[in-house]
Amino acid sequence: MKEKSLTREEVRIKIEKLRKEIERHDQKYFLENAPVISDYEYDRLMKQLKDLEALHPDLVTLDSPTQRVGEKPLESFSSVRHAIPMLSIENTYSHEEVLEFHQRIQKVFPNEEIHYVVEPKIDGLAILLKYENGVLTLGATRGDGFTGDDVTSNIKTIHSIALKLSGKKWPSLLEVKGEVYMDHFGFKKFNQEREKASEAPFANPRNAASGSLKLLNPRETAQRPLTFFAHGMARCEGLQFETHSQALRALQSYGVRVVEHYKKCDSIQEVLACCDAWEEKRKELLYDIDGRVIKVDSFRIQNLLGSTSKSPRWVIAYKYQAQSAVTLLENIVLQVGRTGTLTPVAQLTPVELCGTTVSRATLHNRDEIERKDIRIGDRVRIEKGGEVIPKVVGVVLEKRPSMSKPFKFPTACPECGSLVVRDESEVAIRCQNASCPAQLKRSLEHFASRKAMDIEGMGERLVDQLVNQKLVCSVPDLYRLKLEDLMPLERMGEKSSQNLLEALEQSKKRSLHRFIFGLGIRHVGIHAAEILAMKYREMEAVINASCEDLEATHEIGSVMAKSIFSFFHTKENIQMMSRLEKSGLCMKDYEIASRKKDETLSGKVFVLTGILKSLSREEAGQLIKTLGGRVSSSVSRSTDYVVVGEDPGSKLKKAKEWKIKILDEEEFLKFFKK
Ligand code: IVH
Repeated sequence: MKEKSLTREEVRIKIEKLRKEIERHDQKYFLENAPVISDYEYDRLMKQLKDLEALHPDLVTLDSPTQRVGEKPLESFSSVRHAIPMLSIENTYSHEEVLEFHQRIQKVFPNEEIHYVVEPKIDGLAILLKYENGVLTLGATRGDGFTGDDVTSNIKTIHSIALKLSGKKWPSLLEVKGEVYMDHFGFKKFNQEREKASEAPFANPRNAASGSLKLLNPRETAQRPLTFFAHGMARCEGLQFETHSQALRALQSYGVRVVEHYKKCDSIQEVLACCDAWEEKRKELLYDIDGRVIKVDSFRIQNLLGSTSKSPRWVIAYKYQAQSAVTLLENIVLQVGRTGTLTPVAQLTPVELCGTTVSRATLHNRDEIERKDIRIGDRVRIEKGGEVIPKVVGVVLEKRPSMSKPFKFPTACPECGSLVVRDESEVAIRCQNASCPAQLKRSLEHFASRKAMDIEGMGERLVDQLVNQKLVCSVPDLYRLKLEDLMPLERMGEKSSQNLLEALEQSKKRSLHRFIFGLGIRHVGIHAAEILAMKYREMEAVINASCEDLEATHEIGSVMAKSIFSFFHTKENIQMMSRLEKSGLCMKDYEIASRKKDETLSGKVFVLTGILKSLSREEAGQLIKTLGGRVSSSVSRSTDYVVVGEDPGSKLKKAKEWKIKILDEEEFLKFFKK
């Protein structure tokens, strides 16, 4: 509490200094890739700033580094109309087309030398940033080119986007065009985490970036490894530039992260050479590019050329072929998923593709194999457009062995031998045997996963052993495991066996939505599970809900409703639920149940003013809510209590005027002493 003795002006200066320092480190880390302090030291600076701002909320500004992550999720995004339409770019695929582009321009300007800038074409999501007087005030998606979504709160969570321009001479109004993307490293790690949490991985970094910006909760977006590259200016008021390359350099000097490896070219031959050189070199980049963008450098010439209704005449994209390789398809194996879906996977002779060795590729489903007539023994072309798992895009027919036969999709499950059935209305083929060991293994893994029952130590290897040795034949069997069952298993000493039993015991208290999610009901993801838990509060009520009642729930459609209903009306599942209950699993929402117990402050409205000594405002608010009370930001006739800390504001005066009950910190805390 040393800051208390500082004058307001001294605090202001201190806050400014901390912000500058944090911004400098952000720049070093995210723009120059050359951090000078450790993460620990960085976090410490951030904490100092946060603490000071918490004590002096009136000194918090929009561009403070503490403001990257907003507090509240949005209901929906509002639309923004772009001052200048965000057009698209015409694509070309050959040298000839690029030469034609050049000739078209040269025809309009026969006596001028045309200079170009060649940039990477980032495979991300087009974004417009608006800086007013140097402060980021808007981040918008391209949308249909004329109107986009206001995604400012999500954009602000991206650390490589400056909240404030640095340097001195920036334009009073600046609109920056660029791409939000995920690099290979971030994408891989992010997808691995998703898979661990039993969430579907994203197909490629582009989808992942786009999905992340569409989240309504900026706190979630903040967890996603998003990055940004600028590639131009839209509006710029108060300063003028003559060329695009000057504008890019200016952006760099303002601390905006600009596309790497852009090149000014003085002839169209140089442009082509640059495009060619990067066709190979792009594999070394840490992010996906799908081509080069060729732009006329002079703004005067750009303006005179103008645009068609779709795209400007001064820019084109030179697109690269998707990266592919040809290899031998040695075998097709079938993987059995949790719901029994059989997914065909190609086993390949290992081959190098985009810097990784590929030996497996997904074949999606039976239709896909038939449509492409993919056969064992074929030479197949595989492609990777940034996806985690490469796909087989086609067969090199000239190399097909003469004796080869079309692939016959098995009629029996490769794991348990039961007949497989094709779902009506679906392309998926499923094993119908509810006790298929492969399905059981996947179900157990799902039940134990982090977002479900979070049973530490229950990984793939252990599940394999438990099922293969018939120690577990269904989910409830997990709760009957004993020390002597576990200890003889591979990699399971006494300590880890005990830990596992402890983890199982702990898992009995998980909240209802995790339990529902863990059951692995088809179509029911974590979000739907939360909705069900919130509405029904007890497992019993979910089990007994009618199809109509389920369907009447917001965000639960008829397919999901049917799936839930039929799950709880299947004999095996009824037995399973009753066994789980007998094992002592909590069948109610633990959190909600315990929150409901004490309603001492039910309906009471609190207003907080001044600084509390022993807890933050947020914590005080949480406490009030636990007893059923509510916090309001201003004093009104409906206020029941005004809690007064040090340095109270005008709220205290009002409370006295209106004779509202005033509590000091000690009196306030008495509510919670029990
Ligand atoms: S310039 C008038 N430069 O590609 C269009 N765009 O396919 C001005 N893109 O919507 C855009 N890298 O989002 C430009 N270096 C780059 C780019 C780039 C990626 C995106 C951009 C555009 C899309 C068109």
